[in-house]
Amino acid sequence: MERLVCVNCGAAYPADEILYNCIKCGHLLAVQYNLDEIAVTKKVWEKRPLSVWRYRELLPVRIEPVTLQEGGTPLYHLNRLGEEMGLLHLYAKHEGMNPSGSFKDRGMTVGVSMALQLNMRSVACASTGNTSASLAVYAAKAGIPAVVLLPAGKVAIGKVAQALIHGARVISIRGNFDRALEMVHDLCLSHGLYLLNSINPYRLEGQKTIGFEAVDQLGGVPDRFVLPVGNAGNISAVYKGLLELEGLGFIDALPMMTGIQALGSSPVVRAIRENLPEVIPEPHPETVATAIRIGAPVNAEKALVAIRKTGGYAESVTDEEILQMQRDLARKEGIGVEPASAASVAGVKKLVESGVIDRSERIVCVVTGHLLKDPDTVIRQCEPPTEIDADLPSLLSALRL
Ligand code: F0G
Repeated sequence: MERLVCVNCGAAYPADEILYNCIKCGHLLAVQYNLDEIAVTKKVWEKRPLSVWRYRELLPVRIEPVTLQEGGTPLYHLNRLGEEMGLLHLYAKHEGMNPSGSFKDRGMTVGVSMALQLNMRSVACASTGNTSASLAVYAAKAGIPAVVLLPAGKVAIGKVAQALIHGARVISIRGNFDRALEMVHDLCLSHGLYLLNSINPYRLEGQKTIGFEAVDQLGGVPDRFVLPVGNAGNISAVYKGLLELEGLGFIDALPMMTGIQALGSSPVVRAIRENLPEVIPEPHPETVATAIRIGAPVNAEKALVAIRKTGGYAESVTDEEILQMQRDLARKEGIGVEPASAASVAGVKKLVESGVIDRSERIVCVVTGHLLKDPDTVIRQCEPPTEIDADLPSLLSALRL
């Protein structure tokens, strides 16, 4: 049986307690399995479709899950961009291909299922956009109400549209994401809504399957896993999952966990660079990649361990580098991602140039969200369509033929 364990003091709690922090020391909790009890083989997994639920023995859900067939996302070989960077083994796992267009669906299929399993009847989150979209989708599927708090004016339009149409109660606060998270946390504690931000240890259980799938798709462990970092939940989740695979004897090495942040909101990068014991929050985070516009990442404690224990790295990229890579992925690889997602590949480019990444490495970049999440940022970068009269000479003239 699994239980909840504090990552700081090791205090353990039953798996069915509604807890987001350790009661004794206030630090983060993680789901701990007794790996000796997990009777599954790689062969059994391989027979199931590639999806979050292929790995159900390593997930906490014991009821029929609330699912929309999340996971099973493509792993693309970036041959053209790889060649430009001198990398033969550069891959992108396109999490934008999930039901709501981001990796959050992996967390929410598990998180909303756990809400039902734990007899919680309403759910809530704060979000830079994708978490709210995903929560709205899975709450709709489960038939329970959802409340989402967004930083006013700082959420990409596609994400707001999703939260609205799927029926969440959408509240915009005049404050940033970090404040929205504090508020929703208080709301959940005082009014009994189930909090589905990434401090919820069950949500991260779903997200760890990104790593499982990548290992299965590659036929082995990559040398390096590169993820955009905002609240630092995803990089922590992937690391935790791979540790469990190692514990089960399914893999025999861990990848160098590498986190990429936007320069204007990069407290994890700073903590790694300056070897700080914990992150110093950035009070005014700013970046075009609004998904990762986060100054006080709540999972930093876990992420620092993931990066340090695997000999990984953290790097920041400028908004220009992010947008350039968004265009490069779109035009040279046919992969449409939102700005935050392009950060991982932009980070690889930078780290190859600075010599941190060895050109022989096999690298998996997680590209986290779909291009259509943020059409405004796309339109701003592109020439508008050429409008012409509806006749052939005008067309030929526009095409200079
Ligand atoms: N990429 C995208 C597209 C995201 O939406 C997020 C986080 C991240 C990367 C970073 O992941 O927080 O686990 O380090 N989005 C959250 C949200 C904060 O509210 O949608 P992280």
